[in-house]
Amino acid sequence: MSEIKKQDQQYIANTYARFPLQLVNGMGAEAFDEQGNRYIDMGSGIGVTSFGYCDPAWITAVANQLSTLQHTSNLYYTEPCVKLAKLLCERTGAGKVFFSNSGAEANECAIKVARKYMAEKKGEDCYTIITLENSFHGRTITTLAATGQEVFHKTFKPLTDGFMHLPANDLEAVKTALSQKKIAAVMIECVQGEGGVLPLDPDYVKALAALLKEQEVLLIVDEVQTGNGRTGKLYAYMHYGITPDIVSTAKGLGGGLPIGATLLYGEVQNTLHFGDHGSTYGGNPVCCAGAYSVIERLDEDFLKEVQEKSDFVFESLKGAKGIKSVNGLGLMIGIETAAPAKEILLECMARGVLCLTAKTKLRLLPPLNITTEQLSEALDVIKAVAAEKEERNA
Ligand SMILES: Cc1ncc(COP(=O)(O)O)c(C=O)c1O
Repeated sequence: MSEIKKQDQQYIANTYARFPLQLVNGMGAEAFDEQGNRYIDMGSGIGVTSFGYCDPAWITAVANQLSTLQHTSNLYYTEPCVKLAKLLCERTGAGKVFFSNSGAEANECAIKVARKYMAEKKGEDCYTIITLENSFHGRTITTLAATGQEVFHKTFKPLTDGFMHLPANDLEAVKTALSQKKIAAVMIECVQGEGGVLPLDPDYVKALAALLKEQEVLLIVDEVQTGNGRTGKLYAYMHYGITPDIVSTAKGLGGGLPIGATLLYGEVQNTLHFGDHGSTYGGNPVCCAGAYSVIERLDEDFLKEVQEKSDFVFESLKGAKGIKSVNGLGLMIGIETAAPAKEILLECMARGVLCLTAKTKLRLLPPLNITTEQLSEALDVIKAVAAEKEERNA
């Protein structure tokens, strides 16, 4: 481990504050370090491994495709990306999909589509996109501009022009902006993930969608973290009975291989034409085969189980010592703890449970197929640590 750590620090750009842990293999919701110690993973590689580590059905889908045709570029037709796009459209009502390789790229595509659509409909000065304060949309220069957190902006300016950040859950602020400026789109996360697992107020989401429809302004929903069954619906916007114009997603879609997708609904689906956008790897057959295996299994029965597991987590944590509040949607859960979340995370790790943090909270994004026994074991550790830390700090 120390040699790996040394070489990591020597050869890899030092952008990550890694934990002192080297994972070497895993199965389902359990990972193992180089000494064979077992961990219950409540983070899924930050919401990516939807069916956990080395899921047999996912491996079969990926391996079969890998030994058939791994990459062709988008110069040729291939079946896996078409099958996946059709499935996504059938399950969401979207008309077309653009495939990329990450969440940031899915958002870049969403932004390009919104700008092009509005340039053609309302003129080239209609390019401003409203996003919310405390949002996170990615780390490219444009998606950083979209991200409503100054902490990520500093030292990278000038960022892409044409973004405006408004407070979450404030419909009046949106109305004022619409009355003062040409606005192309509003982009939201239904649950702000990196911002601290903060679900938007459902009434705000519904009213915002209605307002934008009425004013012919596009609604983009960033489902990079909330999408693909994470919140107990296929996409989080489905909790609110709204239809966005554009949805971006990534993370859990691929189940562990890089893929981003931008879903285009209604009239917007006809915006992109030959040469408008592209990606060498986008729609890669292996990634698409893996993603198909993920989406295909997220049926109503499975999503109901995700919701039941979520209820179990909320119930189990309610009123527990050292836990101040719990919020989130489905298996995207933020826990406000009495002791600092980072301290709790490190102690949980020492006791065989891997968690995440988001801002000052402990964040849980377990694999969607985690068993109730594994959940229960992990929650017992989290509760014990939260209680002990509170006592010690009292
Ligand atoms: C809501 C949201 N959008 C976009 C991104 C960026 O995704 P990626 O890291 O795949 O570029 C993230 C990553 O955490 C995210 O949570």
